[in-house]
Amino acid sequence: MRIGVYGGTFNPIHNTHIEIAKAAKQQFNLDRVIFLIAGTPPHKETAESTADLCRFEMLQLALKEENCFEIDDREIYRSGKSYSYITMKEFREEHSTDDIFFIMGSDSLLNFKNWVNPEIISQCATILVAPRLGDDLIELDNVIKEYNNKYLGEFYVIDYTANGLASSVIRKEFYKNSEVREWLNPNVCDYIINHNLYSKYNYDYNFVLKLSELMKKELKPGRYIHTLGVATTAYTLAIKWNYPAYTAMVAGILHDCAKCISDEKRLSICKKNNIPITEIEYKFPHLLHGKVGAFFCKSKYEVNDKQVQHAIAVHTTGCPGMNLLDKIIFVADYIEPGRDKQPRLDILRSVAYSDLDRCVFMILEDTVEYLNKNPEMVDPTTIDTYNYYLSETKGTINYGN
Ligand SMILES: [Fe+2]
Ligand SMILES: [Fe+2]
Repeated sequence: MRIGVYGGTFNPIHNTHIEIAKAAKQQFNLDRVIFLIAGTPPHKETAESTADLCRFEMLQLALKEENCFEIDDREIYRSGKSYSYITMKEFREEHSTDDIFFIMGSDSLLNFKNWVNPEIISQCATILVAPRLGDDLIELDNVIKEYNNKYLGEFYVIDYTANGLASSVIRKEFYKNSEVREWLNPNVCDYIINHNLYSKYNYDYNFVLKLSELMKKELKPGRYIHTLGVATTAYTLAIKWNYPAYTAMVAGILHDCAKCISDEKRLSICKKNNIPITEIEYKFPHLLHGKVGAFFCKSKYEVNDKQVQHAIAVHTTGCPGMNLLDKIIFVADYIEPGRDKQPRLDILRSVAYSDLDRCVFMILEDTVEYLNKNPEMVDPTTIDTYNYYLSETKGTINYGN
């Protein structure tokens, strides 16, 4: 068997990676190509701090339809820095009768001599190099000749000119808020947006603490305790569902920031700032605390992340097609440790960590049942959300599990 091993951080995986793997597979008659997702590589900073499991899930999405392409995740579970020579030695032992080909970009090849034990890698595998647009092919050829002599291995260039696309370019485009859908598998693109990856807004724990001090002054004691419960629950849900955890905490800390002001004030803030008020919100202005809270995010607390603002705006009713953070805050608000009145909290607290959509739907079921007993308080958005998730989850919810 001829096995290709394509090492990289894949942060994120994009179309050029796939095209390189296909070209290598075809030209070198590979039976399988294994995408080896790097943990903390010694020669490359993953300063963008994308969670390892996010990179892994994006790889899964991108390779779902590709036969003969597999993923190896051993490096992300390894403690400390991950060195390719260790993994390649393992591969060599695991596939002692197979031919192994290590696929890398030309940028990696030019830096290859600075890797730890490059000679071990080249003894374990034939190296296949993918050139990039703008590469000096004569220089590349000279380097390959030098390595062929130096490391006693075999190095070949894949006959393929990549379009110069690099993951760093994609990250920068997302940072600037421009989508680069054409360079990505559509599911990977949606994943990046839904998980708020490569956002310019990066919060840390100190910022969470600062907001929590402000909330302590702003909110009544009971509301403040609830807020801390929502923030910590949002944090753990974010870790579970691979969302930036401090961003979720910021949304949790601020979600009820407009709860302890008067109805008159909420109404006047909305009118002054052109925030639309629905009929039911006129009748029960406390329902506006989500929308006003979202407004306070940017005007009082300098939180300009649109996903945080949206999650706060919709946290009481939910909305059809909620994004991941919307769901995290909606669920955290309902199941935080201080809650004790709602039915089936035990099961909801468990389901939240096994099937978030199912948990959202179960909360909506309970909310609609409660509102049926109090019809004058029904916000139509809650019903729209319930109907949306009823049809979304149709056939997938099995209470017999
Ligand atoms: Fe609330
Ligand atoms: Fe709340």
